Amino acid sequence: VDVAGRPCRTIWLDEDDAAIVRIIDQRLLPHRFVVVPLRTWQEGAEAIRSMQVRGAPLVGATAAWSLYLAAREPRDVVADAAAGLQATRPTAVNLRWAIERSLADMASAGSARERCARARATAEAICEEDVAVNRKLGEHGVALIERAAAKSGVANVLTHCNAGWLATVDVGTATAPTYLARQRGIPVHVWVDETRPRNQGAALTAWELGQAGVAHTVIVDNAGGHLMQRGRVDLCIVGTDRTARSGDVANKIGTYLKALAAHDNGVPFYVAVPSSSIDWRIRDGLREIPIEERGGDEVSGIEGMHGDSVTRVQLTPSDSPAHNPAFDVTPARLVTGLITERGLCSASEKGLLELFPEHARDAG
Ligand code: MRU
Repeated sequence: VDVAGRPCRTIWLDEDDAAIVRIIDQRLLPHRFVVVPLRTWQEGAEAIRSMQVRGAPLVGATAAWSLYLAAREPRDVVADAAAGLQATRPTAVNLRWAIERSLADMASAGSARERCARARATAEAICEEDVAVNRKLGEHGVALIERAAAKSGVANVLTHCNAGWLATVDVGTATAPTYLARQRGIPVHVWVDETRPRNQGAALTAWELGQAGVAHTVIVDNAGGHLMQRGRVDLCIVGTDRTARSGDVANKIGTYLKALAAHDNGVPFYVAVPSSSIDWRIRDGLREIPIEERGGDEVSGIEGMHGDSVTRVQLTPSDSPAHNPAFDVTPARLVTGLITERGLCSASEKGLLELFPEHARDAG
């Protein structure tokens, strides 16, 4: 996508210096657009942990580039780097997927130099594939928006968290269909859940949609059910951090409540699922998907711009404990359909395997 008129991805290798990977520090958006360098795998791991980069596909891409940085080191630190990166965030399966793919590609290299070249090629391939996959998600999803617009005049899409280009290498997953709709002149408007506690919707999705000229309105997380009851949401499209082969979907905390409200109101609820976010080894999303717990400080306080710096203010009594599960699991029965790079399918093992038959035997 373009930022201030110039094409921009979320992660790239420095054009002049192959020892530097560059990322956008997403903690400062929408207030400041700052690009920062990653020079070591530890910096890559810290960028994931501290959420300078976030979103399942981008977390995977950052891990792949971090392994490339590890492979450049004179000492053999690749195994340590893989373990360190894997420990950063537990829910998005893209992390494991990218690490395993990079390690497998490096495994048969004959020399340290070849291993490094392979790590770089893998990171580049993961990024290019992510962009291509997301374009496909957009193409498959836009038909849903077109249909809703034909019925309602303007398609009102509700989304949660940020599954836009900032969460991927480029293009985005759940928001890709809305970008395409806008390009094709299909009337579309997006309800953007603020997504407490870290406000990825209010800060990132709203900023992205604004840059792309997509009509949108930010709402508090509690407004979605009310809007659905009033017929003001035609469909929901959200992203995923890990989808079980059964179609159970883990995504940002609060997604499940939106799916419940959508179900009660007959509003179609779709999930945009790049195949890198499918965990083919598990069936029972509720029992088997690890849910990240983050610090209570994200609940008890809120960050925003004050003057020219990002500041945290305290919301709760300072001695009230706070609990902060970062993701929840939406059972497949509440999901109308999955939008994958190979087309739409039902949220079920049968539906997924019809599109991805090569994974029939991968269950753990
Ligand atoms: O905690 P985050 O910001 O990494 O959570 C991101 C999400 O929940 C996204 O919806 C998900 O990663 C899909 S991104 C295409």
